[in-house]
Amino acid sequence: MRLVSFFIVFLVLYSCKMDKKSTKVIDKAIPQRAELSRDSQIFLGNRLFSEKTCITCHEVNKEKTGPSVKEIMKIYKEKNGDIVAFLKGNAKPIVDTTSSQVAIMQANIDGFLKGISDEELKTIATYMLHVDELNPD
Ligand code: HEC
Repeated sequence: MRLVSFFIVFLVLYSCKMDKKSTKVIDKAIPQRAELSRDSQIFLGNRLFSEKTCITCHEVNKEKTGPSVKEIMKIYKEKNGDIVAFLKGNAKPIVDTTSSQVAIMQANIDGFLKGISDEELKTIATYMLHVDELNPD
């Protein structure tokens, strides 16, 4: 009897395995997860803004080596700019177009941002977009 039930279990397991064959490609894909909430995006973006050294040149309120985050966002909102496209190297600078300054920022796009995912870039953009809510004057 044990042998029979063992055989049945084996058959069931085996047929499951056969079923899975057709979904093999999907199994290998990155597991799905829900979109990050707005707050999680801001949190992660803020963190990446430090980790990727952006903060060393861009303070929230004051101009440093680069324009302040608030200044950047004022212009991006006015001109309906796309931060993600700029950080991917797909859009021209619109804040400071002095070539020496543009070159400094371009080095970051080619350096620190190399290999970053689109999702991570989006979190940085979301953080920048909400920086004035987080740091009211
Ligand atoms: C070594 C200094 C430096 C670092 C580090 C740096 N930036 Fe910049 N950034 C600049 C300078 C200088 C400009 C002004 C030139 C320009 O506008 O392109 C600038 C401009 C920008 C702009 C406006 C671009 C435009 O449209 O003119 C954005 C957005 C930006 N930086 C985001 C970032 C992010 C995000 C990081 C981190 C991954 C970062 N920066 C790291 C120096 C820096």
